[in-house]
Amino acid sequence: MKKTVGIIGINGMVGQKMKAELQKIKLPFEVKTFGRNDEVPALDIAVLCTDNPVSRKLAPTLKDRVKFVVDMSSEFRMTPGVPLVIPEINAHAITKDTPLIASPNCTTTGLVMSLAPLKPFYRFEEVFFCSYQAISGGGKKLLDDFHTPGSYYAENCVPLIGSLLENGHTSEELKGLYESRKILEIPDLKVYCHTVRVGVENSHSLGITVKLDKPADLEQIKRAWNHFPHVKYMPSVVTPKEASGQEDTFICRLRQDVEDKNIIHYFVTFDNLLKGAAMNGRQIVQLLLEHFV
Ligand SMILES: NC(=O)c1ccc[n+]([C@@H]2O[C@H](COP(=O)([O-])OP(=O)(O)OC[C@H]3O[C@@H](n4cnc5c(N)ncnc54)[C@H](OP(=O)(O)O)[C@@H]3O)[C@@H](O)[C@H]2O)c1
Repeated sequence: MKKTVGIIGINGMVGQKMKAELQKIKLPFEVKTFGRNDEVPALDIAVLCTDNPVSRKLAPTLKDRVKFVVDMSSEFRMTPGVPLVIPEINAHAITKDTPLIASPNCTTTGLVMSLAPLKPFYRFEEVFFCSYQAISGGGKKLLDDFHTPGSYYAENCVPLIGSLLENGHTSEELKGLYESRKILEIPDLKVYCHTVRVGVENSHSLGITVKLDKPADLEQIKRAWNHFPHVKYMPSVVTPKEASGQEDTFICRLRQDVEDKNIIHYFVTFDNLLKGAAMNGRQIVQLLLEHFV
C-alpha cells in the first residue's frame, strides 16, 4: 500500500509551501491535504502546519491513527522526549520511538545553522543577535495586513514578536535561547537577543555576535560554513531579497572584533518559509519515509 503524508492547515503560509516542498521528495507516497473542518483519516505521517492551540488539540487525537506527527508550531518544541530537529544538525534525535517531532522556530533555525558548523572547533562563550524578521513569518493574516494600505508594518520595524512576558522578554526571544540549547545540545549556551519584525515581505535576517573560547580563525570559520550542508558564506553582501526562494542559509560580513580577537560578528539571511519552516519539515518527512515508515 502507498505510504500517506497528510498536510494539516493546507491553506496557511506554511501549509502551501509544504505542499510544494513534499513534491520534491523522490519516493513513492501520496500527499493528502486538510483544511480547518476536514476529518483526518489514518496516515503514516501528519504534518501540522497550524498554530499552537490547534496543534495542542489535534496532536493527541492523531496518536491512534497516525504513525508520526511533525509539528511546525512551538507547542511541543520544549517538551521532554519530543525531538526538536534540524536534519543537518541533529537528525539522530529522530527514532522509531519518537512519534511526535517538532520543527524549530524560524529565527532560531538561522542562528543554529550558523553556529552548528563551528561547534567542532570552538566553544561558544556568549551569543548575541538582533533579528530582522519578515512579515511572512507572522502567517497569512499579517501578510494580508501588510498589503493593506496604511499597514503599521509598512516601512517600519516593530521590536515585539509573539507575546510580551512578565519578565519583559517576548516569547520569540526566549525561543532563540531555549530552542538553540536543545538543538545544539549545549544546555548552558548563553544567548542574548532582540527580535524585531521589519517591513520586508519574506526572508528573515540576523546580525550575530559570538564570543568564542579562543581567537577566531576567519578562514577556518568560512571553510566550516561552506562545508556544512545548506550553509553558504558569501564574500559579498547578501540580503533577504536574494535569499528568498533559496534553500541555503546565507552568511556574509564575517569580521573579527576590533579589540577582542575571540569575538566574531556576521550577518545571516535565509528564507523563513523554506529552511525556517516547510523545507525543514520536508527534510524531516523524507527522513521518516526513508527510515521509519
Ligand atoms: N510563517 C513562518 O515563517 C513559520 C516558520 C516556522 C514555523 N511556523 C509555524 O507554522 C505554523 C503555521 O504558520 P503559518 O505562517 O502557515 O500560519 P497561517 O498562515 O496563519 O496558517 C495557519 C493555517 O491553519 C489553519 N487551521 C486553523 N485551524 C485548523 C484546523 N482545526 N485544522 C486544519 N487547519 C486549521 C488555518 O485555516 P484557515 O485558512 O481556515 O484560517 C490556516 O490556513 C504556526 O504554528 C507557525 O508558528 C511558521
